[in-house]
Amino acid sequence: MNWPHKHLLDIESLTPEQITAVLDTARAFKAVGERTIKKVPALRGKTVVNFFVEPSTRTRISFELAAQRLSADIINFSADASSFKKGETLKDTARNLEALNADIIVIRHAASGAPHFLSRVVQSAIVNAGDGAHEHPTQALLDTFTIREKKGRIAGLNVTILGDILYSRVARSNIWALTKLGARVTLCGPSTLVPRVFEQMGCRVTHRVDEALADADVINLLRIQHERQRQTMFPSLGEYTSLFGLTKARFARIKPDALIMHPGPINRGVEIDSEVADGPRSVILEQVTNGIAVRMAVLYLVSGGKGAAEIAS
Ligand code: CP
Repeated sequence: MNWPHKHLLDIESLTPEQITAVLDTARAFKAVGERTIKKVPALRGKTVVNFFVEPSTRTRISFELAAQRLSADIINFSADASSFKKGETLKDTARNLEALNADIIVIRHAASGAPHFLSRVVQSAIVNAGDGAHEHPTQALLDTFTIREKKGRIAGLNVTILGDILYSRVARSNIWALTKLGARVTLCGPSTLVPRVFEQMGCRVTHRVDEALADADVINLLRIQHERQRQTMFPSLGEYTSLFGLTKARFARIKPDALIMHPGPINRGVEIDSEVADGPRSVILEQVTNGIAVRMAVLYLVSGGKGAAEIAS
């Protein structure tokens, strides 16, 4: 298929077919990653710039690995060690990266809409690696990829997202991806962090954790986003854990084949018990591994790649 977009800015604007095309392309790249020689020449001669204005471990490193495996040149660029610190604007920074022949700029920024803004002021392809509380599209794609790999489908599954939904770009991108692919999404957490307005995105909202967990095929836990909360949204972390944490007691009551997911970083003992996070039902580290194949697929498709059939041939 011809990928119709030059950028990947969000999941909201993708069709179910386009999301599925990314997942199928990622599956082909995952097979490449299981070979002895993991590199393909798909992006030879292209330059990818990782432009991270917020901290990251998983996303930045997996974009770097993805670009390397596609044979692109990769530049890692963090705001702290750049002229951003001297007051250079986002637009000027991006235009200078473009002048240095950046074909793709992967951007993480604290401001919602920063990737969309860049897509209007530079010719380079822009990939959103997380913008404020708005979207984190590649996280949702790797989460969806992992669910499909483990469960064989997305449509008809009950997926519960538990935690700080209000401030979570991961939640928003997952809601778009999962509902477009036919999953039933339940959101749960304190009422201050899970307002009923999310029902307008096609989700069930409940503040009763046992109700949210009982029928879940997938439980995706989110950490409390202290860096984005402007006021205390609940009395204490201890109270959060006792009311909404995936404790061992709650884990014992979920469906025996439910997947436990978390985008990371984990706050052990807060939103998830440490043994549950490391247990056999947890796919948290598989999500991280799948991030490489999914980000390879995204870099390849925004560069004009034709999709899974082309990789397999
Ligand atoms: N899930 C995620 O975005 O992790 P990082 O902040 O480490 O990239």
